[in-house]
Amino acid sequence: MSKVLTQKQLKVGVIGVGVVGSSVIATLEKNRDIITARAGVEIIIKKACVRDISKPRACPIPLTDDIDEIINDDEIDVVVELMGGRELPYHIAKATLSKGKAFVTANKAMLAYHRYELAKLARTPIGFEASVCGGIPIINALKVGLSANEILAIRGILNGTSNYILTKMTQDGWDFTQALKKAQELGYAEADPSLDINGLDAAHKLSILASIAYGIDVRPEDMLIEGIEHIAPEDIEFAKEFGYCIKLLGIAKKHDSSIELRVHPTMIDEEKLLADVDGVMNAVSVVGDCAGESVYYGAGAGGNATASSVISDLVAIARLYSQNHRQDQANPMLGFITEQSYAIIPKQDITSRYYLRILADDKHGVLEKIAATLSHNKISISTFLQKPSTLDSSSSQNCAKVLLATHTTSEFAIQNAITGLQSLEVVRQKPVIIRIEDE
Ligand code: NAP
Ligand code: HSE
Repeated sequence: MSKVLTQKQLKVGVIGVGVVGSSVIATLEKNRDIITARAGVEIIIKKACVRDISKPRACPIPLTDDIDEIINDDEIDVVVELMGGRELPYHIAKATLSKGKAFVTANKAMLAYHRYELAKLARTPIGFEASVCGGIPIINALKVGLSANEILAIRGILNGTSNYILTKMTQDGWDFTQALKKAQELGYAEADPSLDINGLDAAHKLSILASIAYGIDVRPEDMLIEGIEHIAPEDIEFAKEFGYCIKLLGIAKKHDSSIELRVHPTMIDEEKLLADVDGVMNAVSVVGDCAGESVYYGAGAGGNATASSVISDLVAIARLYSQNHRQDQANPMLGFITEQSYAIIPKQDITSRYYLRILADDKHGVLEKIAATLSHNKISISTFLQKPSTLDSSSSQNCAKVLLATHTTSEFAIQNAITGLQSLEVVRQKPVIIRIEDE
């Protein structure tokens, strides 16, 4: 099903005119001349679809609230999905491809589950540059720029909202709720912001990057995922005191014939490049066997940055169509056509150093019990700090915050140790852990 543009125009239908959709429309208008010169044809948005057509909005494009009107319009060459959600966008993608149209999306939640089904179906181009790290062209960098490399590791700040929250908590002393509210006002957060803070959005993005780097069909359920909900000011203070800062990282590492994948708040050396990535900015460090480390930095969320990536896909499709290429011949969706050959390392076998925050009774023998529980699980302590005792209002007793870092141990050992610590009478609540990445 090859396509040739008969006129000097690529006609586009957009589904979703929110933060990203309205920036795509505005940027195509603002930079029309330069985009046309680069695409070789004019990119025209013929129609757009919204959920609530009665909402007052300044949209210069004819609107509908009927998704089928976009998909079934024979004049439309490309459907751009910018509405969010998971299953409905997947059905839209399939219907679009079955009509012989190209499909562009910023929807990482849908791709995290359905990218391989779409890649198999696709006889027309699928663009998804905007699905990972907003305005950073990381998909193209991995798929094309680094295609000569065996990818040894990817470490990335993949979520703008959580990085904005951690930055505001670290640098300006904001509390979590205040920072999240501001990120929502700025258009960075998902419609359901729990995805930003519980690590799932970053996991969706990591699963997409892992497909391109390793050809693996990994789902978020197969990954170790933790969010930033439990980070407290004392964790940030401890990190600072020992030369670290806390970032929500997505990590993929290759070990012989298996891949380790995880997303969690991470203490990283404050001298590292990623430690300087603040606010809504994202960065991805990729280690390739020939290129060595390359780092990609830019705005990870927000309308304009994301529109930049969406339009880059439209330009690529316009060029492909002008050369009369099919998607599967010219540019396989996920870079790989081979079958999966790597195993995923089971979560409990992943190893790391850990920071622990333990709230315990402030009395004789408590530290001994904590140390014995760790030792029982063959975990050794590398750094230790006890915060001054405070009065616990619920029990009217003094309690102590014990903060410590461990040497390298396994996820299995640390989870057993947490269960053991929690069962000690002197420990007041489930200890909080943050992984430490020294590489
Ligand atoms: P948004 O501001 O909430 O906009 C969503 C748009 O989709 C709205 O125009 C909404 O219509 C429309 N819509 C929702 N459900 C619909 C339905 N059933 N039928 C028709 N239209 C529907 O969302 P956004 O922030 O632009 O995000 C859109 C997508 O881009 C999501 O997949 C998101 O994960 C992804 N993304 C966002 C960013 C970012 O920084 N915001 C960055 C990268 C990727 P109404 O206007 O009538 O409500
Ligand atoms: N909510 C997402 C973020 C949008 O904050 O990173 C960009 O994917």
